[in-house]
Amino acid sequence: MLSRRLQAIADLVTTGECVADIGSDHGLLVSYLASKGYTALYASENKKGPYNRLKRELTNYSSTIIETDLADGLEKLPPRINTVVIAGMGGELIANILSAHPRKLDNVTKLILAPHSNAQAVREVLNTLNYSISYEEVVVEKEQFYEIIVALQKAVPIKEVNTYFGSYHLRQRSANFIKMWTSVYHQNTRILSNKKIPPSRKAELVKEQALILNVISEGEKV
Ligand SMILES: C[S@@+](CC[C@H](N)C(=O)[O-])C[C@H]1O[C@@H](n2cnc3c(N)ncnc32)[C@H](O)[C@@H]1O
Repeated sequence: MLSRRLQAIADLVTTGECVADIGSDHGLLVSYLASKGYTALYASENKKGPYNRLKRELTNYSSTIIETDLADGLEKLPPRINTVVIAGMGGELIANILSAHPRKLDNVTKLILAPHSNAQAVREVLNTLNYSISYEEVVVEKEQFYEIIVALQKAVPIKEVNTYFGSYHLRQRSANFIKMWTSVYHQNTRILSNKKIPPSRKAELVKEQALILNVISEGEKV
């Protein structure tokens, strides 16, 4: 059984998609998709140790069902891939992977991105590529919040206006989105109560608290 986070990602894949899982690690996502009848899948790792482990995890699948590769990000992405998943990494790393090989994205009509931190960096890089955010979700698992961003390739991309919170989230105001930012607000309040916090960090957090309060005040009492 997949974790709630990986299941939410898998549920965003639809029939006919040829999926690449970049930084696949345990290979659970592609194994699950293969069990659901998807073929022409691709799973990669950029380091020898994790790559060898990934290959071991996927020994039951032929390379026509799941092809594996030792590659940095999108470096060796096969042209048949039309959906790319990059999950479980920081937002900056995801942004770097996407911008390192832009031509490799030519055939990629859909991106499913799940940064474990700094979703802002992901929204910002999407503004520089040919993609518009079509959906966003916050998954809660074991009291942790996980953001998932879906972006579609567009001839004329619609620029993401609010890369900080995400324009989609601001329109939807889902319960988990409000819960996540309420949790960040409380966490920041605890940090700010520490007298030893450096003045520059304090100023940053005070600014962030004002932004968060503005967003969550209509949703939930803090
Ligand atoms: C924490 S794991 C996440 C695994 C899985 N995607 C998930 O969401 O559960 C991140 C994986 O990304 C791999 N990785 C990091 N940078 C990468 C890159 N530039 N190209 C390919 N894989 C990378 C790491 O080796 C690691 O196995």
